[in-house]
Amino acid sequence: MLTVKNLSFSYSKKPFITCMNFHVERGEIFGFLGPSGAGKTTLQKILTGLITTYDGSVKLDGIECKEHDNHFYENIGVDFEYSTMYEKLTARQNLEFFSSLYAKQTVKIDEILADIGLQNDADKKVSDYSKGMKSRLNFLKALLHDPNILFLDEPTSGLDPANSQLMKDMILQQKAKGKTIFLTTHNMADATELCDRVAFIVNGGIKALDSPHNLIMRKGAAKVLYTYYDKHERLGECLLSQISEDNVLANLMKENRILSIHSSEPTLNDIFIEVTGRTLQ
Ligand SMILES: Nc1ncnc2c1ncn2[C@@H]1O[C@H](COP(=O)(O)OP(=O)(O)OP(=O)(O)O)[C@@H](O)[C@H]1O
Ligand SMILES: [Mg+2]
Repeated sequence: MLTVKNLSFSYSKKPFITCMNFHVERGEIFGFLGPSGAGKTTLQKILTGLITTYDGSVKLDGIECKEHDNHFYENIGVDFEYSTMYEKLTARQNLEFFSSLYAKQTVKIDEILADIGLQNDADKKVSDYSKGMKSRLNFLKALLHDPNILFLDEPTSGLDPANSQLMKDMILQQKAKGKTIFLTTHNMADATELCDRVAFIVNGGIKALDSPHNLIMRKGAAKVLYTYYDKHERLGECLLSQISEDNVLANLMKENRILSIHSSEPTLNDIFIEVTGRTLQ
């Protein structure tokens, strides 16, 4: 679906993205993870044909992004980082206007407003929407023409837990329909939950690229840590994968001497810090 070969781009004379290469399969949810200023939105602008002054090749569904015509946008949906709605119009008027720009049949506006919980606010002006409501409406704009490829820039940013879950469920519904989804986020938990593969982006470069599971496994296996009583409190540990073979632990459990037990799995955040030396914030 996407092939990036020797991509280089800079806003100034100083190189920013240099010789980037990667490939994304049809139907994947692919995540760009990186701290602020890493180049995630820049990359999304290149992939969506908004920045055309790059070197190298970026082919989306067989089309070189910098050579796209307007038909290109019939097949992709973009949820921009910031609200792109007309504030003086209502949500419904905005969605009707943006629907009218597409040549193809668009989805039913009342249905998608209900899917994301905005059915009772459809006739409210966007200027009266909260940040989270605008963020959900912006996402709907990307779905209007039922595109095969979605670009979502920080889709869960600023949402409360219930709306964040609603958004994630809708993203997974799109994946179930066979859509290819590009997602940028600072949120490692969302990336682990949603993405088939993720790229760690720092300073305009990819520092690692794999499935969240494989990246987490790089750090080593999950451990079980326990405390037990032996005259005074002591600490023990074993690998989670070898817990059934650990006779010391088995005997402590039989003798009822375990005081506490918990497992510790590395998270994608731990791996990000290890690989890039940076935190996500
Ligand atoms: N139009 C522009 N002109 C010049 N520099 C720019 C422009 N847009 C972005 N930059 C710079 O490019 C770098 C990458 O910005 P970008 O918006 O791609 O980061 P990001 O990873 O999306 O960050 P965030 O997580 O904060 O959204 C930053 O140093 C930014 O200042
Ligand atoms: Mg950004």
